[in-house]
Amino acid sequence: MPYAHITGWGMSVPQKVMTNDDLSKIIDTNDEWIRDRTGIRQRHIASGTETTSSLGTDAAFKALKVAGLIPDDLDLIICSTSTPEYIFPATACLIQDRLGANKAGAFDLSAACSGFIYAMNMGAQSIRSGSVKTVLVIGTETLSRFVNWQDRSTCILFGDGAGAFILQASEKPGGIQGAVMHSDGSGGDYLSIPAGGSAHPASEITIHTGMHFIHMDGKEVYRFATRVMAHATTEVAEKSGWKVEDLSLIIPHQANSRIIDAAARALKLPLEKFMVNVDRYGNTSTASIPIATVEAIQNKRLKPGDKVVFVGFGAGLTWGALAAEWSGPLPSEHYITAEWYKPWARVRSILRRILRILDGIFFGRDA
Ligand code: COA
Repeated sequence: MPYAHITGWGMSVPQKVMTNDDLSKIIDTNDEWIRDRTGIRQRHIASGTETTSSLGTDAAFKALKVAGLIPDDLDLIICSTSTPEYIFPATACLIQDRLGANKAGAFDLSAACSGFIYAMNMGAQSIRSGSVKTVLVIGTETLSRFVNWQDRSTCILFGDGAGAFILQASEKPGGIQGAVMHSDGSGGDYLSIPAGGSAHPASEITIHTGMHFIHMDGKEVYRFATRVMAHATTEVAEKSGWKVEDLSLIIPHQANSRIIDAAARALKLPLEKFMVNVDRYGNTSTASIPIATVEAIQNKRLKPGDKVVFVGFGAGLTWGALAAEWSGPLPSEHYITAEWYKPWARVRSILRRILRILDGIFFGRDA
């Protein structure tokens, strides 16, 4: 049975930064309150041209470059997002087209802030089963488009961004060791976007009452998060045959530094064992774990052979954790630059559209 190794990683955040002081100019809040309650100092906000798929594509190109792969090497693309560009087509398909990954299947996965854990587990299991060899897993969000900028209890928390991992099959032991996934739909009301789906399709009333924005019971979500983080970490470590003390690094979902502090206390581990960068990005939902991982690598906090646990929680309610022995890139001969591949993918996409039109003209459009 092949092992599933993490061999590439990349992140992309919008250029525009919004500090707490910037926020205090549009709503009744202040830097001190936000930093005290959440640890957040700033977040990145997408411009009009930056989208869930554009950020995801940028992160994906960087991950391919680290892994030394080209888009045609990909067998499967899983895009975890709560802010897809459309209900359908899947954002994963938009990214597949932007990459020019023409041999890959692509689908979206919706498990909110736990989505990256779920998506990684699905990717790893597809490799372990032998059905695919190379998987691109993306977590990407433009939450700023779903935030009510009049609601100070939610808009201070969220930011935009994307992260991506490449998973590759190898006979060499290591890589993903275990995962746990949990859900409790009875708490679904605590964190939701009530309208825009089939329960409440867009109407004058839903728009007028702000039902297309993120709604949250902050206190309940906080209580839930502090309960599950430590538990899921211990559970996945035990499932992987490890002790929590053996872990080199824990990369938690970055929602609130107080939630991470509480998890560290519950696990009786020093805070240094946790990667924390919520101060600079806010809560980027499913993108937060891969973004934190990329920064951990940049800061030399991860090296091959390290035992690492990724742990997340979010709307659903969902939570989960994934244990991996850190690998790094496998030997490769490819070297790609996004600058070259992006226009090439665009040309191929246009050619495909033209071919479809010609096909309709010459062979007719009747079934
Ligand atoms: N700036 C200034 N004051 C604010 C404020 C803001 N942005 N937001 C709320 N307040 C005020 C409230 O109005 C309230 O005032 P009052 O006491 O006069 O009524 C006071 O601050 C306390 O508000 P409360 O909502 O009780 O704060 P809290 O301690 O529960 O902190 C959160 C709020 C959102 C920071 C906290 O509940 C939290 O982090 N929850 C988890 C959210 C989360 O992680 N969600 C994503 C999960 S993936």
